[in-house]
Amino acid sequence: MIRTALFTLAAALALSACGDTGEPARDAERGAGPERSTQREGTPPAYSPEALAVLTGIYADADLNNGRRLFRRCAACHTVNDGRRHLVGPNLSGMFSRGAGEAAGYNYSPALRDADFDWTPERLDEWLADPRGFLPGNRMSFVGLRTEAERRDVIAYIMVETAAEPAE
Ligand code: HEC
Repeated sequence: MIRTALFTLAAALALSACGDTGEPARDAERGAGPERSTQREGTPPAYSPEALAVLTGIYADADLNNGRRLFRRCAACHTVNDGRRHLVGPNLSGMFSRGAGEAAGYNYSPALRDADFDWTPERLDEWLADPRGFLPGNRMSFVGLRTEAERRDVIAYIMVETAAEPAE
C-alpha cells in the first residue's frame, strides 16, 4: 500500500518535472496574447461527415483550424451557433440559407436591411475582402481579410459551424 502511494507520488513528481522542462516561455506568451481562446490550441474540431460534406470546391482544401483561429476576430462581434445572442453584429447561424440582413431580431443598418441578395460563400468572400466597398453604408467596422487563403479558411469554418447546427 505505502509502496504504491510512494510510487504514485514519485511518478507525479517526475511528471510535473517534465512539465517544467517543457516550454514555459511559449505558454506564458500564449496566455498573454490578445487572441486568448477557451479552446485548446491544436485540438481539431470534431465535425460529422455530413457537416464536412458542405465543403466543396476550394473550400474542400480549407484549413479549418486556421479558420477557427481567424474567426476569433469575428467573434468580438459575432456568434456563429444556433440560438446564441446577437452581439454588436448579428448571430451568423443559418446565414447561408437566408438573405442578407435577415437574422431575426437584429437591428441592421438600412444598407444591409435593404440589400437584396442571399449569402453564398462567394458573396461572403467579396464582403470580407472589402466590407466597406462591398456594401456602402453598412455598419460593420472591420477592415477585412486580405488574403484569399484567410478568407477561404474562415468561410469554410463558418460553413461547417452553421451547417453542423442548422437554424430553427
Ligand atoms: C467590430 C465588430 C465586427 C467584426 C470584428 C466583424 N463584424 Fe461582421 N458585422 C458587424 C456588424 C455591426 C454587422 C451589421 C452591419 C450592418 O447592419 O450594416 C455585421 C454584419 C456581418 C454580416 C452580414 C450578416 C447578415 O445577417 O446579413 C456577415 C456575413 C458578417 N458580418 C461576417 C463577419 C465575419 C466573417 C467577420 C470576421 C472575419 C466579421 N463579420 C467581423 C460587426 C463586426
